[in-house]
Amino acid sequence: MAELDHWHPVLLADELGGKPAPVRVCDRELVVFRASKGEATLGAFADVCPHRGMRLSEGCVEAGRLVCPYHGWSFAPNGEGRSPATPAARPCADAFDVVERFGLIWIKRRGSSATFPTIDVSGYHLVGKTRHRADAPLEVTLDNFIEVEHTPEVHALLGYPRERMPEVICEVTSTESSVRVFNEGPQKALPRPLYTLLQIEPGDIFIDDWTTWFSPVYTVYEQYWLDPATRQQRPNALRIAIFFVPVTAEQTDIFAISYALAPPWERYGLNAFAYLLTRAFVVLELRRDVTLLGKLADKKTELRGRTLSRFDKPLGLARKRIESIYRGRG
Ligand code: FES
Ligand SMILES: [Fe+2]
Repeated sequence: MAELDHWHPVLLADELGGKPAPVRVCDRELVVFRASKGEATLGAFADVCPHRGMRLSEGCVEAGRLVCPYHGWSFAPNGEGRSPATPAARPCADAFDVVERFGLIWIKRRGSSATFPTIDVSGYHLVGKTRHRADAPLEVTLDNFIEVEHTPEVHALLGYPRERMPEVICEVTSTESSVRVFNEGPQKALPRPLYTLLQIEPGDIFIDDWTTWFSPVYTVYEQYWLDPATRQQRPNALRIAIFFVPVTAEQTDIFAISYALAPPWERYGLNAFAYLLTRAFVVLELRRDVTLLGKLADKKTELRGRTLSRFDKPLGLARKRIESIYRGRG
């Protein structure tokens, strides 16, 4: 399989209204549209009219069809086209498979056999969906998300304190199709209200346990805390699925779907507020990661020649699987 054969999120569902939206994924320009406002029927085409090359995303949707603004040819979501001036013509738009799931719009090349990525969220409450763009290639962006050595410096909240990094356990295991990293260490100090929000205590052990998959490239994080005395798990936990979507060879979109386990303030009826706060701090961390990635002096994806740390083992394992599973080479 090649890149576009895998399911990729390309938009948050609420970013797609009644107008067709241009998107760029794996350096391909596509247009995505709803066949009618608020309806489940979606269409996705290469963003170029098969007649004379107009951008279809400049058009509009009429009677469930995307109408090209140049000569009015129109296309049904399956790509079947009509020309008002030549009714016998049978033009065809280059259509992609498209679905709306987990509050995101996903596309893949029509007819590819890729299976839809699974995210087990039973028992969890949706906290939010976000999209951020990193000015870095896919591999370099993923690198940031599969090691915790950056968390003392880059993260405001989730992570380990710099002076205690030597104690942090980092265990890496892999299969042909996945790379798992288990991290355990002391949670870095937080502002007091966050202990309440997360239902944890100062001095708690923070577990950050994630697995990265490669069709498409995404990581599912399990983040929870232990009482250091008893190793009892605290009631709250986060599960965050992050999808890494190459926009071009130099830019990567990061779609994060975040869930929390225990309704923290159910008894006060304040859960909606708690989720809003949780979403805000996930966004804060993502922004910090993305800002940092934009500042890298060297964004080469090649690892040879770099001096790597004990936390960087997943980087090479991920690269191999990106090449073989995601890009379908070798
Ligand atoms: S270019 Fe689209 S109808 Fe002519
Ligand atoms: Fe990070």
